[in-house]
Amino acid sequence: MSTATSETLAINGGTPTFEQPVPFMAVGLTKKDIAAANEVLESGMLRAASKCAAFEEKFAEASDAQIGLTCANGTCALQLAYGALLEPGDEVITPAWTYIATVSMLVAAGAKVVFCDCLEDSYQADPKDIEKKITDRTKAIAVTHLYGIPVDIDAIQAIADKHGLKVIYDSAQAHLAEYNGKGIGAYGDACTYSFYATKNLGTGEGGMVTVNDESLAKTIGLLRSHGETDKYLHESIGFNYRMNDITGAIGLSKLETLKDETDRRRAVADLYAQRIDAIDGVERPVPTKGSNPAWHLYTCRVDLDALSCSRDEFCAALNKEGVPTAVHYPKPLTMQPAFKDLAAQESGTPVSVKLSSTVFCIPIHQNLTDEQVNGVCDAIAKVTDAYRK
Ligand SMILES: Cc1ncc(COP(=O)(O)O)c(C=O)c1O
Repeated sequence: MSTATSETLAINGGTPTFEQPVPFMAVGLTKKDIAAANEVLESGMLRAASKCAAFEEKFAEASDAQIGLTCANGTCALQLAYGALLEPGDEVITPAWTYIATVSMLVAAGAKVVFCDCLEDSYQADPKDIEKKITDRTKAIAVTHLYGIPVDIDAIQAIADKHGLKVIYDSAQAHLAEYNGKGIGAYGDACTYSFYATKNLGTGEGGMVTVNDESLAKTIGLLRSHGETDKYLHESIGFNYRMNDITGAIGLSKLETLKDETDRRRAVADLYAQRIDAIDGVERPVPTKGSNPAWHLYTCRVDLDALSCSRDEFCAALNKEGVPTAVHYPKPLTMQPAFKDLAAQESGTPVSVKLSSTVFCIPIHQNLTDEQVNGVCDAIAKVTDAYRK
């Protein structure tokens, strides 16, 4: 006979909090999205045309940006923005705590990467550390609104203004995020987006750059499509980083529900914050002052001083309770083999190094019910109680 009680962890043979695991994310297409894609398939107009143009216009408008340029994916979006704004050899300050593409595309653009650290509670690039790392060779700041939480845009813009720097915001995870009451597209020289399948607006693959300057938009447009100014007339060297109209139509269709879905993510985040604040041993994300995040990911931290387990042991127990988790990211970029030449900078990013062993993401999406959110918090409390020192 089992001696398990309701407080025995499922990993130790107790009853799991959820019989069926809570879905970690909500991905896929609705009938309306499929109909929109089918309309394009039936028209035979597969290249970038009216659907991409409409998606650019509507997404830019929803983000408070003046101009949108669709492209093949978020990595291409970064390459286009960097290609238009940077020169080879430019020194660029960028976070150690972000997805690799933010930084690898700087390397691809021939920039000299200087890593900055992040703030432990918001996970966003630390403006004070950015300022410390500025030299007279610094030309730009390229930061990410990580997990959908805007960085401290006021502080970063003030540094950029003081030193005459360009600012590029990797907004791949931050569709419709806001700062000081405006969409994030209103800020900086360029914002880049990814519409990868799991993003808040996911078209499979896809990307966009938004800007507020027509001549910059023209340069990005040329880079996106072989520098072509007229049929087979190539003014400059460029790439083929174009989107296609099937993707554009899916993007347009999904954009219609994105605001409501984002608001539901915000309500889920509010409920998580309320509940997790009452659990000793786990910390929740604290958004930057003035920001209204898009909550692509809800990233918490284990307090390793308060618990007798590692982050991975904590997550394994949570998973057995029916709460899936993910780690974004298991290494700061300063510790990635791809950046081994920059490894000496690891010691300059201690918060990022620490986060790599404490962060874990819990489910957040528009389809979660309050009951599921409360259940996730019950499971976190149960696991924390079991491991608290
Ligand atoms: C912060 C960030 N930047 C850039 C990218 C790259 O986007 P894509 O996968 O569409 O190339 C991603 C995708 O995961 C991302 O999360």
